[in-house]
Amino acid sequence: FELYLDSADIAQIARFHDCLPVKGVTTNPSILAKSGVGLNQLLLNLAELIGPEARYHVQVVSSTVDGMVEEAKRLQDLPYDIVVKVPANETGLAAIKKIKADEIAVLATAIYSVQQGFLAALCGADYLAPYVNRIDAMGENGPQVVADLQNLLDRQKLPCKLLPASFKNTRQVLDVLSAGVSAITLPIEIAEQMLGHPAVNPAVAQFDLDWCNVFGNQLSFE
Ligand code: E4P
Repeated sequence: FELYLDSADIAQIARFHDCLPVKGVTTNPSILAKSGVGLNQLLLNLAELIGPEARYHVQVVSSTVDGMVEEAKRLQDLPYDIVVKVPANETGLAAIKKIKADEIAVLATAIYSVQQGFLAALCGADYLAPYVNRIDAMGENGPQVVADLQNLLDRQKLPCKLLPASFKNTRQVLDVLSAGVSAITLPIEIAEQMLGHPAVNPAVAQFDLDWCNVFGNQLSFE
């Protein structure tokens, strides 16, 4: 299973990398623009933090096929394990076909429907990122789109991984995990909510209190 953080916040990525088996990071142009951190700096910091096994999903910003292909090649030349994110619209699918001809790893992003994801998989995408919350917000069912897409990939034996993205609550995460996906990218606040059941810390504090009342605060198993 591949667990990613959908963030460019280095301090928060460091925090969750300490306590979770984080495979890497996904970003998009909005996340990078909001963070104010340049891509080079981010990758340098993350490589130091996570190490050489980290994988980064980085989105192209060009809106032409040639521009996307050019950006994909430049990203591929960087000394990191980079998967190139390409929006799965008509231009993006044309770019994915060309980028895959160069054997560069691709994630088709901005997936809003099963049929769109299926076409991106046919074009050779290695990963698909369905936007779960954005689909829900349109009055449709994000986790159901993920489940149907996973089913279709399995039935058609397409060697493509779903990497669902865009979550606003932990229920959406659990629902796509139940659909059998083998990768996911979590915004920081959702990773936080998954760890932070309100009953946990009071339970641990009570253990401490019970122990200290009898044995004091040193560790002793005698
Ligand atoms: C990641 O690949 C997507 O770009 C991102 O998760 C979109 O999330 P949002 O809907 O919260 O912006």
